[in-house]
Amino acid sequence: MAKLSTKEGRADPFPLYAAMHELGQVAALGDSSPHAAIVHGYAAVDKVLRDPGFLVTGHEIVARKKPDWRDSPMYNTLLNSTMFANPPDHPRMRRLFHAVLTPRRVSALEPAMTGMIDRLLDRIADLGSGGSEVEFMSEFAYKFPTTVMAALLGIPEEDLDWFRPRVDTVNKALDLGNEEAKAAADVAAAELAGYYTDQIALRRARPGDDLLSALLAAMEAGEQPISDTELIGNMVVTFNAGFVTTLNMLGNGMAQLLRNPDHAHAVSTDPDCVPGYVEEILRYEPAVHLVVRWASVDSELDGVHIPAGRSMLVMLGAANRDPARFPDPGVFDPTRPTGQAISFGAGAHYCLGAVLARTEGRLALPRLLQRFPKLRLGAEPVMNAQLLLRGYAKLPVHVS
Ligand code: HEM
Repeated sequence: MAKLSTKEGRADPFPLYAAMHELGQVAALGDSSPHAAIVHGYAAVDKVLRDPGFLVTGHEIVARKKPDWRDSPMYNTLLNSTMFANPPDHPRMRRLFHAVLTPRRVSALEPAMTGMIDRLLDRIADLGSGGSEVEFMSEFAYKFPTTVMAALLGIPEEDLDWFRPRVDTVNKALDLGNEEAKAAADVAAAELAGYYTDQIALRRARPGDDLLSALLAAMEAGEQPISDTELIGNMVVTFNAGFVTTLNMLGNGMAQLLRNPDHAHAVSTDPDCVPGYVEEILRYEPAVHLVVRWASVDSELDGVHIPAGRSMLVMLGAANRDPARFPDPGVFDPTRPTGQAISFGAGAHYCLGAVLARTEGRLALPRLLQRFPKLRLGAEPVMNAQLLLRGYAKLPVHVS
């Protein structure tokens, strides 16, 4: 575990994952570690995520160290969302989102998504004309999913320039957890809550065809209600969850394809192979490498004792490279059977945006390669040095 958090471990965790798999499915970390264990084998990761005895970091857990969490706009926002809620709040909120965030809603967004991609590619063509380098992460990987999330949730596109820096500030506090970042995140979370309070009033008065209006309509139609604070918490978290992850899927995927021209050629010319590529990108370089779970009762996992009240690191990134589940896990093979990677989690908290994320990858990657047949890597890419949301900070490319 200590090695995973070093600079080298973050730069390339995969040799460490391979070494862990040789030792079993779960490793105890000892009493002095903040976490009781690291769960890395596919079967154990899947079991923990599906077992209701293991909880996410909900308010009941945060309250042990921070009883005044409700006074912090950041905590009050995050802890009122599905991602950081346990039963009974979690199933109540999740049911409502599940009822409206449907594959049909995602399909209906496809034409708009294609339009967004083409507009971004027009800009990239201008920026990259004459051989100039274009920074793929900021110009496409960030802008595309944030614009998609705005369209999905019903945030007017002209508000995005106000919206994006505030969302980034909340994310920074999640990543670093330092007090300075948290103070800024409290301000940003309060501003975002104010923004959504106004949007909720607007949609109540004049519904649109967006997710927020659909959530309000579902409650009117008899779905179990959620409070306005929960509605706001979920809107903020869904927006964040919907782009910090997809951003890395697009960056990791593009880097993988550009390093293997045969793969890039296949994705740009054979539509049938694209879903297999998207799945393998998600398995091979997942956007989310770990989640945290807390034992609600004394538990035993693959021979390791987890005392009630202690947490575990649940390593999705390692599970995706478990040789017991994926033969030759270090080989990028888009012909593997699909739907097996655990990149979207499993069980009660399985990603609510999996269909949307896959659709974004399936639409964007071929379109980029078709528009720019000479697309190639530019200066040395820079990794973001995160293990949780592993991806590129900078991915310079040439388009002409
Ligand atoms: C490549 C893209 C994505 C990846 C890899 C990803 C991954 C994940 C994972 C691993 C979880 C489970 C967290 C846990 O078990 O603690 C999750 C949950 C979630 N994701 Fe995604 N996600 C992606 C895209 C999206 C998108 C586009 C949306 C927006 C609609 C979204 C919304 C959510 C929400 C709301 C949850 C919380 C669900 C719950 O707790 O019940 N995600 N995601």
